[in-house]
Amino acid sequence: MRFNLLPAHSAYNAHPSDALARRLLDTRMPLLGVNIDHVATVRQARGTDEPDPVWAAVEAELGGADSITFHLREDRRHIQDRDARLLRETVSVKLNMEMAIADEIVDIAVELLPTQCSLVPEKREELTTEGGLDVVTHQSRVAAAVRRLRDAKIITNAFIEPIPDQLRASADAGFHAVELWTGGYAHARTPEARGTAIAELRKAIAVGHELGLEVHGGHGLTYRNITPIAALPGLSEFNIGHSIVSRAVFVGMRKAVREMKRLIQTAPPTREIGSR
Ligand code: PXP
Repeated sequence: MRFNLLPAHSAYNAHPSDALARRLLDTRMPLLGVNIDHVATVRQARGTDEPDPVWAAVEAELGGADSITFHLREDRRHIQDRDARLLRETVSVKLNMEMAIADEIVDIAVELLPTQCSLVPEKREELTTEGGLDVVTHQSRVAAAVRRLRDAKIITNAFIEPIPDQLRASADAGFHAVELWTGGYAHARTPEARGTAIAELRKAIAVGHELGLEVHGGHGLTYRNITPIAALPGLSEFNIGHSIVSRAVFVGMRKAVREMKRLIQTAPPTREIGSR
């Protein structure tokens, strides 16, 4: 697949130099990345051309999304190559491509040149990404993919569970950033379990910063559960998909994004999860 790239629309899409990558990673205000995969899921359910995830990205930007996230899966179950190409040409904020460490997908990424690539585990039988990438076990394969992406001046992000060894392995593999899997928190059924999950996230954020990593969060975050996570100091980017797309069905994408962004920006900074 060849991508005929248009001139970049903004600094974010400007095939970032290392200096720009560092500036992006220095941003203090938490960013909201909107994952538009599920718009493509609805389209693929009927095999037609609507709803278009590229339109969803435009609407998300108009609602204040700081980043647009898409996952080009090996099985192409939702986002298609055409979507990736058009998103690259039209998105003017940060473009974050989720991907497996498969050679075919890395080839596409280095040709497409999104702002950031987030390496995730991928299993055909899963409904969505379940858990984080095991960077400890797959260190050399992961590091090879990171090297190729970094050589193409793409910001690299590892989607991992909040486990200190995974953070250390991610730093060793050369990632700029990690996205901590927040599923442990989102799926917790009791205040105690939520408290434990929050404590693990706090620890992982601290370890990540000690290692010089930018630390993001995502998975399972909703309008109901975002506040305690947004209140955690040190998470600089959230990636949220299913909940925003679900709300957008009723209130529209712009409003859904605006509402989530407000929740993130107004979360009280020291709130503890157990206190809800
Ligand atoms: N971050 C990553 C790395 C993901 O794989 C996903 C799911 O595609 C998300 C965030 C968003 O998760 P959710 O759809 O539960 O908000």
